[in-house]
Amino acid sequence: MKLNTFIFVANWKMQLSFNETEELAREYFEHLTLIKKIPNLRIILCPSFPALFPLSRLFKNSEIKLGAQDCSQFRAGAYTGQVCAKSIAELGCHYCIIGHSERRHYNHETNTEIADKVQRLLEQELQPIICVGETKQEYKEQKAFTALEQQLEPVLTRIADIGISHEPIHIAYEPIWSIGTGIVPSNTYLNEIFTWIEDHTQKILGKERVVGLLYGGSVSEQTIAALKKVKKISGLLIGEASLDFQKFNNIVNLI
Ligand code: 13P
Repeated sequence: MKLNTFIFVANWKMQLSFNETEELAREYFEHLTLIKKIPNLRIILCPSFPALFPLSRLFKNSEIKLGAQDCSQFRAGAYTGQVCAKSIAELGCHYCIIGHSERRHYNHETNTEIADKVQRLLEQELQPIICVGETKQEYKEQKAFTALEQQLEPVLTRIADIGISHEPIHIAYEPIWSIGTGIVPSNTYLNEIFTWIEDHTQKILGKERVVGLLYGGSVSEQTIAALKKVKKISGLLIGEASLDFQKFNNIVNLI
């Protein structure tokens, strides 16, 4: 089932220090009234872990929601440096990005680990934003669907098996060749990809499960007009352009 809210997810990655994150968040907070007021529109900020606590205080009772950028695959235990889903929920987050291509690349995350993380998040009633996407090479060799199937299958099967929650889930299609490059896929290509993701997801999870379909990769004031025409997209995952409130707000206003 399609998500009835359009979501804008700002992935601030590790672009800002703790103080810089607080500064940018305050700018977002001060300009809250400028942000387009539509009942089915939601803004989600995803700062790095240390900033979640101060930001959860700042945005308490506001329309802006928070998400983490990752979580541990384990519930609790001797896992130095990791942050569990329970803490993320206790901090007041509603969402968590997982399986981002940067984590798959630099932290060698596997699809099984990502499936574990989805399970931990759903146990805490957090909505996972599951990132998938093909490399440039796979794109050139027309192997995108194979790559997507390999990434999605273990995660969707796990969601179907655990059956613990009916929390919406989000699948963020982020082609690696588009992240930070200024290049976005054509609408024809995106329509094919999102149709495939939707069909594949429904086959495993059934038609009743609410699944958001997000696009990420070079979303900007320049690329939003074309992306807007892809009707299956129910949200955007924005990196670079979300680090500037004005740019971010222009994108929101153009939807
Ligand atoms: P850019 O918007 O900077 O291309 O980043 C996309 C991304 O990786 C969001 O998760």
